[in-house]
Formats: sequence, C-alpha cells, structure tokens
Amino acid sequence: MRHIVRILVTGGAGFLGSHLSERLVAEGHDVICLDNFYTGSKSNINHLLPYSNFELLRHDVTFPLYVEVDQIYNLACPASPIHYQRNPVQTTKTSVHGAINMLGLAKRTGARILQASTSEVYGDPDVHPQEESYWGRVNPVGIRSCYDEGKRCAETLFFDYWRQNQIEIKVARIFNTYGPRMHPDDGRVVSNFIVQALKGDDITIYGDGKQTRSFCYVDDLIDGIVKFMNSSGEITGPMNLGNPAEFSIVELAEQVINLTNSKSKLVMYPLPSDDPRQRKPDISLASNTINWTPTVDLKAGLSATIKYFESVIGRD
Ligand SMILES: NC(=O)c1ccc[n+]([C@@H]2O[C@H](COP(=O)([O-])OP(=O)(O)OC[C@H]3O[C@@H](n4cnc5c(N)ncnc54)[C@H](O)[C@@H]3O)[C@@H](O)[C@H]2O)c1
Repeated sequence: MRHIVRILVTGGAGFLGSHLSERLVAEGHDVICLDNFYTGSKSNINHLLPYSNFELLRHDVTFPLYVEVDQIYNLACPASPIHYQRNPVQTTKTSVHGAINMLGLAKRTGARILQASTSEVYGDPDVHPQEESYWGRVNPVGIRSCYDEGKRCAETLFFDYWRQNQIEIKVARIFNTYGPRMHPDDGRVVSNFIVQALKGDDITIYGDGKQTRSFCYVDDLIDGIVKFMNSSGEITGPMNLGNPAEFSIVELAEQVINLTNSKSKLVMYPLPSDDPRQRKPDISLASNTINWTPTVDLKAGLSATIKYFESVIGRD
C-alpha cells in the first residue's frame, strides 16, 4: 500500500505550485495548498477543489502558521521581475520571513522541507555553466536584489536551521521553467514571445538577443523536485534543477514564430540593468544523486505551452 503523506505546498496556486499540487493529489497524498493569491490564481487549482485530499488555505507566509504536516514545499514568492519588483520590500519579506516561518513549522512538526531557490542566486555569473559550488556574482543594491538576495538569505536560513536544529532540508536551485499556467503578462521570455506571436505583435528582444538561457519544461521540473524531496536525508543540496540545453533568445523567438505560424517581427530594445548574459545549469549533481535529467525537448514543451496560451487568449 502507498504511504500517504501530509504535504504543505506554499505558493500552491502559482504556476509551479499548481502543477506540483496536481501531481501530489494524483499520488493520493493529503495536500494543503497555501497561497495569498498575490500572483497565483484560483483558476490554476479550481480543478483540484473537488478532491477530498486537497485543501486550499488563504494565508501569507510572512505570518506564522501552525498545521501538522510531514513535508513542506516552500514555493511562495513572486518569480517574475515585473511582479517581484512591484513591491520589493514585500518580496524580500516573503523570501526571508517566509523561510523563517516555514522552517519554524518544520522544526515544530519534524517535517522535511524543500526550498524553491533559484538560478538568480548566481547573479550575472562569470563561471559557465554554473555548478552548485559557485558562489555567484550578485549586485546587493540593484533592482533585482530583492529577489536574488532574498533567495540567498533564505538559503542561508535553511542551512543554519539544518546545522543548528538538524531539520531535514532540500534546497533546489531552479532554472528558467516554462509551461501551461505561466502568467500571460508577467514579462517572462517564453510567455512573452508566445503571447506576442499568437497576437501577431512584434517580438520584443532586450539586448542583441545573443544572450543565452536554458528552458526546462514544467513536467520535468516537478519530477525533479518530487524526486529530490523524497531522496535520502543526507542529500540537502543546494542542487541545480533545470535543462542544460542552451538557446539564444533569438533562437527561442524563431522557434516560437515557426510553431505558431506567426508573422510577428523581432524588435530589439536596450538590455535592462543586471540582466545576465548567460545562464545554463550544470546538473551533474542531480543526475548523479537523484538520477534526474529532463526529458522534454524545447519543441515539444513549446508546443504544449502554445496550446495552453491559445486557449487562454482565445485564438485557435
Ligand atoms: N518558474 C521559474 O522559472 C522559477 C525559476 C526559479 C525559481 N522559481 C521559484 O519557484 C517558486 C514558484 O514560482 P512560479 O514560477 O510558480 O511563480 P508564481 O508567481 O506563479 O507563483 C508564486 C506563488 O506564490 C504566491 N505567493 C507570493 N507571495 C506569497 C506570500 N507572501 N504568501 C503566500 N503566497 C505567496 C503567489 O500568489 C503565487 O501563487 C518561486 O519561489 C520562484 O522563486 C521559479
């Protein structure tokens, strides 16, 4: 018989959180989905409400929470620059106070806790590809710092609670992930390009478009974080999770135009400050310790994502 686990997913109504909640509900676990709906939406998890093993809790992680759980996935935090820069003080509070509150809960309940950290902790890297031992090159006072430094401080808290209180921690450094239920207007490159292509608008490229990114399809990412959470206790990370296949921004735009049969044109704008030139994960740690590598290629992932956006913005 499958072991049923009581699981808290913070940020559960967001893009990644809703896919994670869906997966955990399907596995039969008792899932508490916590969200303050800052960037998440009820439409992402409406389909889960009828399940008796799914529970929705409106709560802000910057305030303490008392629930009995066995595992905590801490995903609560706006993830796109447009959203996290809207209220930067709240962004830092969400990462830092949120981590303290969720780690406090893990300490009280003995729950294992996974932190959704980010490749942004590497900043604008001078090492390529980035492996976990690289400490990063982050501007502490720039417009992205509320997110980057908030996430870095959360990692510090995870490792201090682990050293001080022997909590079971897992710190996942997530690289660019895309898929259905991304916000159509949050400025992230994949959703931006798809929406622009579907509407026939110009595709906006910041800089010369030669900067590279790696893009991980959401199903692969969820698979990675669930495997990591359930891996042996001594595997704490930090662990990179992402797809190492590297594409320039122009290559991504061209693939999107082809797959949508769009007539959109590429238009170049100046690069915003602190925007990294290159971003690519070294995932040897994940592949060696939890036997995880992504399997969905960019074309297949983009096709599934385009289908979703066609239904959202009403073009078919
Ligand atoms: N999607 C990616 O490519 C990516 C990459 C690296 C890291 N991450 C991390 O993964 C997590 C989820 O990202 P996402 O892409 O699903 O973003 P998202 O914005 O769709 O989801 C974040 C969720 O957290 C909720 N939230 C925000 N502040 C909160 C608070 N104070 N209390 C409770 N809930 C709050 C939002 O309402 C939303 O539902 C984030 O922590 C993000 O930093 C995502």
